[in-house]
Amino acid sequence: MIINKIVKLKRILNDAVSKNKTIGLVPTMGFLHEGHLSLIRKAKKENELIVVSIFVNPTQFGPEEDFGTYPRNIKSDTKLAIEAGADIIFNPSVNEMYPEDSSTWVNVEGDITTILCGVSRPTHFKGVTTVVNMLFNIVEPNKAYFGQKDAQQVAVLTKMTKDLHLNVELVICPIIREVDGVALSSRNTYLNKDERKQASILYKSLQMALDAFRNGQNSVDELETLIKNQISTMHLAEIDYVNIRSFPSLNKIKDVKGRALAAVAVKFGKTRLIDNVILEKKK
Ligand code: PAF
Repeated sequence: MIINKIVKLKRILNDAVSKNKTIGLVPTMGFLHEGHLSLIRKAKKENELIVVSIFVNPTQFGPEEDFGTYPRNIKSDTKLAIEAGADIIFNPSVNEMYPEDSSTWVNVEGDITTILCGVSRPTHFKGVTTVVNMLFNIVEPNKAYFGQKDAQQVAVLTKMTKDLHLNVELVICPIIREVDGVALSSRNTYLNKDERKQASILYKSLQMALDAFRNGQNSVDELETLIKNQISTMHLAEIDYVNIRSFPSLNKIKDVKGRALAAVAVKFGKTRLIDNVILEKKK
């Protein structure tokens, strides 16, 4: 069932809650791939009613970014989401989510939103936290599902949920990759053949850093240099950042001691890709 209106969605969800049904929310911007579907399948296992939101959120795109051209296909998304276990597809218009007089923002302040992707996308996380908060308020899910691919988003939403004492459990699901290691992303469709081929260097370089770490290399400088050198072997790759930080607090560290996030953002032509691994010893 596709629902476009907040009032209608709330009516159906109130009815479900009155029957003691648990609600799982999978927020997406559509153009669904296996990564999204893995979130929906997990949500299906853990909840009785699954809401998948499909909303290309304008406020998380910068003025020069791809909001207008972001890939959209609601028909095939609906089919895929329902096959994966969605009960309700929430597909509101921009005006439904942001009526003309809307002027309230949710913003997580501090380094966590200004480092890494926050450097080149200074308003991005404010758009994400605002819309995710709206979705939490509209759907009131017991659990909400996000992919580890957007690791900084995970860190920011974890902090927002804690800071605002929100009554929802965030479930973070592993990155789904192509056979050559490229992380699934709706933006991969922008890559031409050569760019797509070279993009596999991101995961390869991150894996090399993970191996080096597991073999005793703790120095953040050394590990970052290793990743940068590997990515630079691809002539189409233009590094935005390579950064190792504590996770999920994203604090600056000199040596990797506990768990840390190794994150990269690299442009291939006009397409900016992100990827990451968690640096941790084998269990
Ligand atoms: O990860 C995404 O697709 C988006 O940032 C989200 C969480 C759906 C908010 O628009």
